[in-house]
Amino acid sequence: MLAVKLAQQHCEAEVVGIDYWGKDWEYSKEVCEKNARAAKVESRVHFQKGDAAALEFASNTFDAAISNLTFHEVQSVADKGALVCEALRVVKPGGIFAFVDYFYDAKYYGKASDFENYLRDLKLSQFECKPLQGMMAIPLLLRHPKILGRVGMIYGKK
Ligand SMILES: C[S@@+](CC[C@H](N)C(=O)[O-])C[C@H]1O[C@@H](n2cnc3c(N)ncnc32)[C@H](O)[C@@H]1O
Repeated sequence: MLAVKLAQQHCEAEVVGIDYWGKDWEYSKEVCEKNARAAKVESRVHFQKGDAAALEFASNTFDAAISNLTFHEVQSVADKGALVCEALRVVKPGGIFAFVDYFYDAKYYGKASDFENYLRDLKLSQFECKPLQGMMAIPLLLRHPKILGRVGMIYGKK
């Protein structure tokens, strides 16, 4: 839906949606393509099976990159910060990004202050890292740490 909405909101955008589509989730490439057709954006939205740990794109390819609640799911990589770097690798210098994940869960990203220093060391031209709770209204039950309570957003410009 993220890829489809992006294409709907930016009528000049060509969007590539990547997922591993493993058997742990009921999502599939076919359902994504069906959603794109239903929204009449199938000519500008392409879905491709790929691994967030090793994206099959050259560095500096895209004007923008977004990711939603995927990095923590990647089993093959213990250092989830490396997945943020891999997503940033494919963004052009000056391109923009927004990533949502459990950035405030030490189990995945270590101490929040250490992770923020890690991001600072990437020398991005601009970035913010914020808890999702401060950015949007989240119903009380969904603020539970195991649901969205430790989720944050990193966004900025490479
Ligand atoms: C919580 S879902 C989020 C899906 C989608 N981004 C969304 O916002 O609806 C996590 C997704 O991560 C995908 N995933 C797991 N490991 C992956 C990997 N190594 N590379 C790419 N996607 C992966 C799963 O297939 C699943 O679709």
